[in-house]
Amino acid sequence: MSGIRTKLWRIEPIDGDADFTRPAQLREAAAALRAGGLVAFPTETVYGLGADARNTAAVERIFVAKGRPADNPLIVHVASIEAAERLAGPIGAAERRLMEAFWPGPLTVVLPARPGGEGVSPRVTAGLPTVAVRMPSHPVALELIALADVPVAAPSANRSGRPSPTTAEHVREDLGGRIDGIVDGGAADVGLESTVVAVDASTGAVRVLRPGGVTAEALAAAGFPVASADASDEEAAGAPRSPGVKYTHYAPKGRLCVVLGAPEKVRAYIRQRLDQDAKAGERTAVLAFAPERDAAGAYSAAQRVFALAEQRGDVAAASQRLYAALRECDAARISALYAEGVDGSSGLGLAFMNRLRKAAGGCIVEV
Ligand code: TXA
Ligand code: MG
Repeated sequence: MSGIRTKLWRIEPIDGDADFTRPAQLREAAAALRAGGLVAFPTETVYGLGADARNTAAVERIFVAKGRPADNPLIVHVASIEAAERLAGPIGAAERRLMEAFWPGPLTVVLPARPGGEGVSPRVTAGLPTVAVRMPSHPVALELIALADVPVAAPSANRSGRPSPTTAEHVREDLGGRIDGIVDGGAADVGLESTVVAVDASTGAVRVLRPGGVTAEALAAAGFPVASADASDEEAAGAPRSPGVKYTHYAPKGRLCVVLGAPEKVRAYIRQRLDQDAKAGERTAVLAFAPERDAAGAYSAAQRVFALAEQRGDVAAASQRLYAALRECDAARISALYAEGVDGSSGLGLAFMNRLRKAAGGCIVEV
């Protein structure tokens, strides 16, 4: 499939812009989707690689372009709750309340496909009797889906095994020449993929299959009983309910070590490792929770230092920057990476540490 000319549609600033009404570029992108094309587009979480979810040939092209395992189902993106109902059939009361509380936004709801729904290609659901649906809040995504007037199947727009893209440039790096077009709507806001949930039919509890931008605390605060907060538990038990969680994801080319502990100890440990690595001729990088100057000073032995956030508590800022930093490390041929870990037991820290752990392939050091 490589060798296709990938179009770039640039959408100018949209927030609060009264003139943002169906610009010509979006109409062209929507037409490409309707015609069975592959179009990458921005969402508030990460960029997605979209195709008409009802068109099996188009959906198959997603798997080829990404190099994605065929048994990993796709999320279907819609522009309204009614559109979700059209494709999945009647929506249960708890699921509807979830949608009303968190849509549009970074929450994906796994719905049982019920009789009466129009359905999507079986390639989207990988043969499961359920379908994962999400209504993104990014205005460009919403407008594109509404204009296309089709349910849009879209995984993250990266080659399999690479970090999810948070800019149109990341998409071009991975998929340029392999897809029909990219809608550039600026950098993604959340930076980590959506929270995937399913409502337990017997208990009515909300099960978090993949942590993300909508936290377990936010679900609980909105009155939803939350069953299990950490998808990695299920992974450990060998029975992932969200098929995607079993794959190694987001792995940088260099080996990444996440270091947990008191900030001063973490810093001392990483500095010592950097010295050893320098002697061994490694190219090193550090992902730090500190202001730029401070981090650069502390880790002057590293080739690259990324200040993910000014303060340790600012996990939102770090989430936004994480994938871009991992990509930059690859581009700079970094062979040894160290990341200062954060509390991964609650809030957005859960999603952030879930992604960092996966990127590290299990290398977690506690000091
Ligand atoms: O934020 C996001 O969710 C982004 C943007 C583009 O919307 N999309 C995304 O898609 O992250 P992807 O394909 O990279 O991840 C989809 C996840 C996978 O873990 C997959 O296994 C799970 O959703 N999933 C999809 N359908 C499912 C289903 N029927 N039951 C359980 N899990 C499902
Ligand atoms: Mg993905």
